[in-house]
Amino acid sequence: MHIGLFDSGVGGLTVLREIRQKFPSSPISYLGDTARLPYGNKAPQTLKQYTQENIAFLDQLHVDVIIIACHSASSVSLNIKHSQKGTPVINVIGPSCEEAIQSTKNKKIGVLATKATTRSQVYPEYIRQQAADIQVHSQEAPLLVPLVEEDYSNTQVAKIILEGYLRPLLDASIDTLILGCTHYPILAQEIQDCCGPNIQLIDPARSVIQSLVERQTAATNDQPKFDIYLTDQSPHFLEHAQKLLNLPDLPPIKALGPLTLKRQ
Ligand code: DGL
Repeated sequence: MHIGLFDSGVGGLTVLREIRQKFPSSPISYLGDTARLPYGNKAPQTLKQYTQENIAFLDQLHVDVIIIACHSASSVSLNIKHSQKGTPVINVIGPSCEEAIQSTKNKKIGVLATKATTRSQVYPEYIRQQAADIQVHSQEAPLLVPLVEEDYSNTQVAKIILEGYLRPLLDASIDTLILGCTHYPILAQEIQDCCGPNIQLIDPARSVIQSLVERQTAATNDQPKFDIYLTDQSPHFLEHAQKLLNLPDLPPIKALGPLTLKRQ
């Protein structure tokens, strides 16, 4: 099963990491739309267009399934179940909501996310449809992406910012917290420290794996091909990728250039 996934940039590596662990023999094609990030403060119409273009690009690579790893892109694309060529498309919202619903005991779920995702209301609406008695408390956290990008995760600054963002959720007595952005699993330890041990963190990168497991066809003899495509040669992408994937020898990154979403 050739798996294609995309994100605005570095964050989707948290999803890629889980996929590589779970499907070590599957070919994987990763698209980081680094030329157009950040996605987290873009308007819905813009994100819809980016999403369609990114899906079309992965489709050209003849992938068997496409994952919209980015929450901001997923939040405006719940209706996309297949690409134009008929390739199944999975987003990260549904699987993480399902896991959060299973996890909560007191029926109070928190969602930490970008502005785009929070303002779309996608998480509260999805959860309400599945379980009307669950309260969902959302918090937009726009400073967390730059903190991760600039490697400020394990710092006093990160701690102070996290305490500010998490305080309203803790005051609302949530017992489950969805990390509603691909960057946030990189801050998982700091977030857990701030929340304390009684709050269950939901990492959508892990939740989405179950959807893939369900779709996986019989064992494959495919070569474990692994390609990374970027729409801009972001200088720190390589460092983040080597660290996160624990792969000092990454495959050569294929630079596409902005708006030229054609196969190289
Ligand atoms: N990857 C995006 C998300 O999950 C956040 C990063 C960005 O703003 O581009 O929403």
